[in-house]
Amino acid sequence: MKLFDTHAHLSDKRFDDDLDDVIKKLKESQVFRVVDVCCHVKDVKRTLDLTKKHDFIYGALGMHPHEASDVTEKTLYDMEGLLKKNDKLIALGEIGLDYHYDFSPRDVQKKWFIEQLELAISLNLPVILHIREAFSDCMEILRAHKKGLFGVMHCYSGSYETARDCIDMGLYIAFGGAVTFKNARRLSDVASRLPLKRLLIETDCPYMTPEPHRGKRNDPSYVYYVAKCLAELHNRDVEEVCDITLKNGLELFSMGK
Ligand code: NI
Repeated sequence: MKLFDTHAHLSDKRFDDDLDDVIKKLKESQVFRVVDVCCHVKDVKRTLDLTKKHDFIYGALGMHPHEASDVTEKTLYDMEGLLKKNDKLIALGEIGLDYHYDFSPRDVQKKWFIEQLELAISLNLPVILHIREAFSDCMEILRAHKKGLFGVMHCYSGSYETARDCIDMGLYIAFGGAVTFKNARRLSDVASRLPLKRLLIETDCPYMTPEPHRGKRNDPSYVYYVAKCLAELHNRDVEEVCDITLKNGLELFSMGK
């Protein structure tokens, strides 16, 4: 069995004290690939260091919607340089819209979301999308930019219909710990109706810890519980779900070659 955690934040300060131990445990837990997602260009060194030190860890870089107020044209220029120069930065993200927290004004979030989408398309890189309570604006923007666009809806929380629209546009849908929560009937129903060949698994660690470890710090080894939950929802073996989601992830992030 090989697990692929397609969305982790190992650079988060909550791993400062024991990161080496956490990474050692990943090898023992059959974690075969991790994408470490860097949400602000100023923090990229931590992600780059991880990708250089560990073969199986790759990186993504994007300005999170929470950070939209910090973005300038220079930020995008710097990101472009970093993405071009570093082979192990394999995606642009997480980018998107977050109307739950509204940490940056919505028009500012939209402007830089669009500019980063266009950058990803020009670099031929997949996008990692963070969309919270903003699906209507998001879909409008994605439809206007769908040519050359590919990527994943990370930590999906929308409706079945929106997920289908995303899949029709060529996107993957990623589920994390939330799908395992006992009060997540609506989300698990969505996950059960989508084709496995378009799904990815992720942790979003250190947040969103899946059952039965909810409340503890999350780490990429717990992506197993997301696979197990999807296996139950689809009436399949967990090994099969791991294989399919691994293949999907390798294909999306062009790691299969
Ligand atoms: Ni994240």
